Amino acid sequence: MRVVLVGPPGAGKGTQAQFIASHLSIPKISTGDIFRANVSGGTELGRLAKEYMDRGDLVPDEVTVAMVRDRLSEDDAKEGFLLDGFPRNVPQAEVLKKMLAEFGTTLDVVLNLVVEDDEVVRRLAGRRTCRSCGKVWHLVFDPPAAEGVCDACGGELFQRDDDREETIRRRLEVYQEQTAPLISFYADEGILQGVDATGPVEEITQRAMSALRRFA
Ligand code: AP5
Ligand code: ZN
Repeated sequence: MRVVLVGPPGAGKGTQAQFIASHLSIPKISTGDIFRANVSGGTELGRLAKEYMDRGDLVPDEVTVAMVRDRLSEDDAKEGFLLDGFPRNVPQAEVLKKMLAEFGTTLDVVLNLVVEDDEVVRRLAGRRTCRSCGKVWHLVFDPPAAEGVCDACGGELFQRDDDREETIRRRLEVYQEQTAPLISFYADEGILQGVDATGPVEEITQRAMSALRRFA
């Protein structure tokens, strides 16, 4: 299955992507994760992306699209994939459509995680990530037993640079201006499914899986 996950920053895309991809046995491809891996690896791509990410702006389309094209060309993405964080604006969605047509395929479904603004701000402000294994925690909603330490691996937890208050505000603006228009784009294509993304993580996964079954 070829699935795209959209939703505002902090909607729980990363959290859900991991479970959905594992249920469907397809790779999870997160552009945010790929950029962050490049930032910590000190690559040229990472240096370029960091400047935009720290401001809460989108990395330029030509950079992002080339990176996604490379990733989708890998063997494990041939039979299906779950895209988390891409496309992020209508031009990226149009390029993705052309790219998949070149590969002789199309998207099956776009899941839109629906959460209110107040809730996404609470989720982002309390998010902590493990420096060693990458697991994502929340200080209130999913706290580790000892403050600052990952229960899964003992690694140190840190706050993402773009989860500072002013950057969160900018990311929400960018979402409204550039990403929200994707919802009507994919509704027009007839492949949009809204998912209520409030409540316990497992319930949201179940809702997402039921929505996907309607398109399988
Ligand atoms: P990206 O990493 O994609 O960031 P984002 O879209 O802002 O999404 P987040 O990762 O912040 O949130 P999420 O929805 O994954 O939520 P999570 O599961 O962590 O992108 C970062 C940057 O990279 C962009 O700003 C841009 O600069 C660049 N970029 C990426 N893609 C790009 C593209 N295509 N084009 C151009 N630039 C691009 O959950 C959040 C928190 O809530 C966690 O603490 C979690 O534990 C908690 N939580 C999750 N679910 C629940 C629940 N049900 N109840 C309570 N808490 C919950
Ligand atoms: Zn860890």
